[in-house]
Amino acid sequence: MKKILITGALGQIGTDLTRYMRDIYGEDNVLPSSRKRKEGHPLMDEGEFVTLDVLNYEVMEKIIIEHEITHIVHLAAILSGTGEKNPQVAWDINMNGLYNVLEIARIHGLSVLVPSSIAVFGESTPKERTPQDTVMRPSTIYGVSKVSGELLADYYHSKFGVDTRGVRFPGLISSDALPGGGTTDYAVHIFYEAIKNKRYASFIDKGTFMDMMYMPDALKAIVQLMEADESKLKHRNAFNISAMSFDPEMLGEEIKKHIPEFELDYDVDEELQGIANSWPNSLDDSEAKAQWGWEPEYDLASMTKDMLEKLKNKIG
Ligand code: SER
Repeated sequence: MKKILITGALGQIGTDLTRYMRDIYGEDNVLPSSRKRKEGHPLMDEGEFVTLDVLNYEVMEKIIIEHEITHIVHLAAILSGTGEKNPQVAWDINMNGLYNVLEIARIHGLSVLVPSSIAVFGESTPKERTPQDTVMRPSTIYGVSKVSGELLADYYHSKFGVDTRGVRFPGLISSDALPGGGTTDYAVHIFYEAIKNKRYASFIDKGTFMDMMYMPDALKAIVQLMEADESKLKHRNAFNISAMSFDPEMLGEEIKKHIPEFELDYDVDEELQGIANSWPNSLDDSEAKAQWGWEPEYDLASMTKDMLEKLKNKIG
């Protein structure tokens, strides 16, 4: 029986993941946590929730023991855009938080799933169909911390036998919680503005392709990899996965099929644009497909249709 602790559960992935995992493993077997309570947030009233700063080893260990946790899904992290505003804080949270999680996993025999990101790649990485194993020289502190995290998690597996696993998430698009401080966030904001104002000024320029994924596929990937047969995993931290690759123009055109008045223009943020330029245009996720059966369900058209329906119900 799994008992799962989710760190950073009030972020973009955690809210949806908590509900998704509770449906699978049972409400009492999934414990969401975050640094602070957030009154009014739906997870405050949906079963148990604990406050946990991932930099506080003692509190984390106490929670692990008290709740008899067997698995940690470690989501607490500072994303690419926010990271560049305060690299020291990003390094501290992304690395020392992960180190605490891995140490606790080693000492208490837990399994760990920690997402990595397309941000591990950089200018010198092949841009098209970026291979699973390739050059990784990122130029953001987020990317540097995610590469280091992948290596550290691999090390904890090879050295100490800790069951560590991870995927490299592309930009995630979701209708529930908003993303915070990422380079790919334009692909979420555009939907809110399309519904509210029928126009959006993208901070990422036309012609900039990045990998993206709709949240239901991201949730499926986490559980599928967690449940994957260990003997089939040649890689662990972390697998390339993707569902679609598009630039703002393509997304704008797809939205126009549903909202013909929608207008897309550009107000490019130089820093975020620089980050986007350094990332791949499209990932090769064939290793994830071969080793644990990864297969996305949503493409650009089906994601756009579903996002607009969900958001219309949410914000009118
Ligand atoms: N969505 C993330 C970001 O833009 C990528 O992992 O920072």
